[in-house]
Amino acid sequence: MTNEGSDVSRGTSDPVASGTHLTGAERRGLDAVGRWARLPHLPAEGLARYRRWLAEEAAPAGGIGPKEVPRLWTRHLVDALTFAGPRDVDEPRRIVDVGTGVGLPGIPLAMAFPRSEVVLVDRARRRADLVRRAVRILALDNVVVVEGDAGALATAGIRPHLMTFRGSLGVPAAARLAVQAVGDGGAGVLGLSRRPESPSLPVVDGLDADLEVVRVPEDVLDSPAWLLRIRPRRDVPRRS
Ligand SMILES: C[S@@+](CC[C@H](N)C(=O)[O-])C[C@H]1O[C@@H](n2cnc3c(N)ncnc32)[C@H](O)[C@@H]1O
Repeated sequence: MTNEGSDVSRGTSDPVASGTHLTGAERRGLDAVGRWARLPHLPAEGLARYRRWLAEEAAPAGGIGPKEVPRLWTRHLVDALTFAGPRDVDEPRRIVDVGTGVGLPGIPLAMAFPRSEVVLVDRARRRADLVRRAVRILALDNVVVVEGDAGALATAGIRPHLMTFRGSLGVPAAARLAVQAVGDGGAGVLGLSRRPESPSLPVVDGLDADLEVVRVPEDVLDSPAWLLRIRPRRDVPRRS
């Protein structure tokens, strides 16, 4: 099916009819992540429209597993917003989401930071095409989609203040890329674990960055979550 022209794109005054209604628990989850991650904007309606697009178009297209559809809100959308929590700058001028797939965590972050430029990068053409459709349907004018390998970002000179990795690169590759690409005062944030036990701090030989495991509080998500903050040391000259 195509959603362009449906109320996913148009919006409607009736949230139940449009599928953008939030339950009390969903609203509380959004408020909790908003407080913890100090989000400048809580994009409730936009996220609900994105959820509907994920269920109606991304899942049938294979961009997200069918088993994920019933738990999109907490497991994917609120989870995506947690990636802003470990940042140091209030409003990152630019955010780069590496290996975005169908826009996670990049699209929720673009909605929460409407004044930031958000670059969604994926090397898979089908994913890049799908996420381009989402950006168009959701009318996100602060988002650019780039089809290509993350390795090219090291020398692209785009210097994000927040670079995110959710299920895309492993720790060593992500940390090295963050050191090369992230702008001064910025950080890389990688989804490390959703297990209850605290993961051990990864060790990456010869890395010019400080790594820190950050725990997402349990009132924010439905299960424990751990992020890795990668802060490049800027006394070290950047190779480009
Ligand atoms: C498991 S999916 C995760 C997608 C999304 N971040 C999420 O959390 O749902 C991993 C994605 O990373 C992309 N990817 C993996 N390595 C990449 C690379 N070196 N450069 C660009 N994209 C990459 C893949 O094409 C795939 O779409």
